[in-house]
Amino acid sequence: MYILGIETSCDETGVAIYHAQRGLCHHLLYSQIDMHSEYGGVVPELASRDHIRKLIPLIQQLLRESDLVAAEISAIAYTAGPGLMGALLVGAAVAQSLAMAWQIPAIAVHHMEGHLLAPMLEENPPEFPFVALLISGGHTLLIAVRGVGQYQLLGESLDDAAGEAFDKTAKLLGLSYPGGVKLSELAKQGQPRFRFPRPMTDRPGLDFSFSGLKTFALTTFQKSEQTLQDKADIALAFQDAIAETMVIKCRRAMQQTGLTRLVVAGGVSANSQIRCQLIEMIKKEGGNIYFPRPEFCTDNGAMIAYAGYQRFLSGEIQDIEIFARPRWSMSEL
Ligand code: KG4
Ligand code: ZN
Repeated sequence: MYILGIETSCDETGVAIYHAQRGLCHHLLYSQIDMHSEYGGVVPELASRDHIRKLIPLIQQLLRESDLVAAEISAIAYTAGPGLMGALLVGAAVAQSLAMAWQIPAIAVHHMEGHLLAPMLEENPPEFPFVALLISGGHTLLIAVRGVGQYQLLGESLDDAAGEAFDKTAKLLGLSYPGGVKLSELAKQGQPRFRFPRPMTDRPGLDFSFSGLKTFALTTFQKSEQTLQDKADIALAFQDAIAETMVIKCRRAMQQTGLTRLVVAGGVSANSQIRCQLIEMIKKEGGNIYFPRPEFCTDNGAMIAYAGYQRFLSGEIQDIEIFARPRWSMSEL
């Protein structure tokens, strides 16, 4: 059976075809970055309108390039939340309309469950159970995962999400949108000159807090001569603080749960320094670590098609209604 996956929760239109036996067949992504960069961040109304323009042609291109016709699709998975309401509604409305027209089920997928399961699309996927660190633009979550839908929240960010902290810090250093990637590129030229705090690591617990780091970056920047080298040094110190904080919390989560596998996913997991430091930690402590390929760290349709297939297997089919939830906790799954 073929599953069509649709992702429209923020600023990327992603579509994919997943086959029950053969795995991922094809995926396409249209990024709205160029459109939003003029405004320095995502403009929700423009995002919705662009999804409307791009989604159906992208699905047509996907089917054409996959040599498939509509009658061969058995179910449609779409991101129902969390995300921008207008953007979600586009995916939900298109998915439900196609499902009705093609007389097949629609499956509402939680965006973070998509990220969580993205490493399952790789050649050497993790077995359950594992600890998952999900680091995206909107969420920072540490979860004990015992199976699909069996999620125990261990910790989360009390303020800014990791990606949000990257983006805000990038902005105050004068970097253009999307800031996370720009900041990590700049950090490559940085010298180890500043040391930023590792928030909430000096006390027990698995929650995170990143908003103080942004303020620390700002005051360090204001006190400096504000040269390009100063910016690079601050970017490095900021990234180092985030990476080490994640190392400490992941190590703690694995010790606390006794689990030896670590899955790291979501947009920020594309960051090479964070990946390297977590790999180092696992090498030292023992265990195994799993990431999605970089293009599946950030938003994409493939992870939604896969998560939808898993939900389909457990019999979770959406009623015919346009279901979208901008705020939706994973603990409700
Ligand atoms: O998962 P994602 O594509 O969207 C959400 O679900 O939010 O994550 C996007 C976030 C953005 O904040 C972006 O700046 C950040 O991931 N990001 C990165 C990198 N690539 C994307 N942050 C740091 N380093 C990167 N290489
Ligand atoms: Zn995402």
